[in-house]
Amino acid sequence: MEREPRPGGDPAVRTEVPLGKPTAARMYDEALGGKDHYAVDRAANSRLYEAIGERRVRDTAMENRRFLGRAVEYLARECGVRQFLDVGSGLPTVRNTHQIAKEADPHARVVYVDIDPIVAVHGRALLADDNTRIVTADMRRPETILDDPELNGLLDFDEPVAVLFVAVFHFITEEDDPARIVGEFRKRQAPGSYVAISHLCADGMSEPERQGWYAGFSGATVPLVLRTEPEIERLFDGYELVEPGLVRPWRWRPSDDLSPRTDSLLGGVGRLD
Ligand SMILES: C[S@@+](CC[C@H](N)C(=O)[O-])C[C@H]1O[C@@H](n2cnc3c(N)ncnc32)[C@H](O)[C@@H]1O
Repeated sequence: MEREPRPGGDPAVRTEVPLGKPTAARMYDEALGGKDHYAVDRAANSRLYEAIGERRVRDTAMENRRFLGRAVEYLARECGVRQFLDVGSGLPTVRNTHQIAKEADPHARVVYVDIDPIVAVHGRALLADDNTRIVTADMRRPETILDDPELNGLLDFDEPVAVLFVAVFHFITEEDDPARIVGEFRKRQAPGSYVAISHLCADGMSEPERQGWYAGFSGATVPLVLRTEPEIERLFDGYELVEPGLVRPWRWRPSDDLSPRTDSLLGGVGRLD
């Protein structure tokens, strides 16, 4: 087990990198062609590839990642947002939130939050920058994020903050009340703030694909929950969806033809007035 001492974050969240079970962060990294994963993650992804098709799973991951990039670009360049809270950020990869935000304004401030301690282990070295921080915490307990001293030392909630929940709410069960979680973040946000959400969507999936996603994540450290379009749309309650609304991510403000096109996800950006 690797250990990482940590100044901030949620003390209830494990600081050990779990090696015995697949984690969503490492499985996603493998699907994107990254290098920060273990045999147990590759085995879980092999089950996904067998059930759903390798191309489709990798395309879904890439389509999502490109949505994240375009959403941050839009928020930074077109909406003038200078503060980002990237919840369920995953392992650093190409075109991370802070890099995109800083292309628009080098002084942009970004806090990454993830439940998986490997994100902080790999991220600290990569993100050595005064205006970028990583907090290890569980979004099911929003107060441990919103009251975190590391976060509050950097982000000012009296000014607009874009909160990103990209490909993370499908790891939050109904029991943990996703609407309550978004609501806790929304309550802290100033007018002119935004939320960006993408989510695996059960609508339009074949039964074998649905079963495949569940089987792939069955032994993982976080549970998987596929939701319908109305259920995903409810996560935007209190926000006004910006054009083009909640859509397949490749359709969301496409800037090039590089995004794979699957029909496994929905994504959108909402504004708080
Ligand atoms: C599929 S990855 C998405 C990464 C990134 N947001 C993106 O879209 O490129 C999902 C991430 O959410 C994290 N996650 C899952 N449940 C979480 C929780 N309860 N609190 C914080 N992070 C969580 C996982 O560890 C993983 O890194």
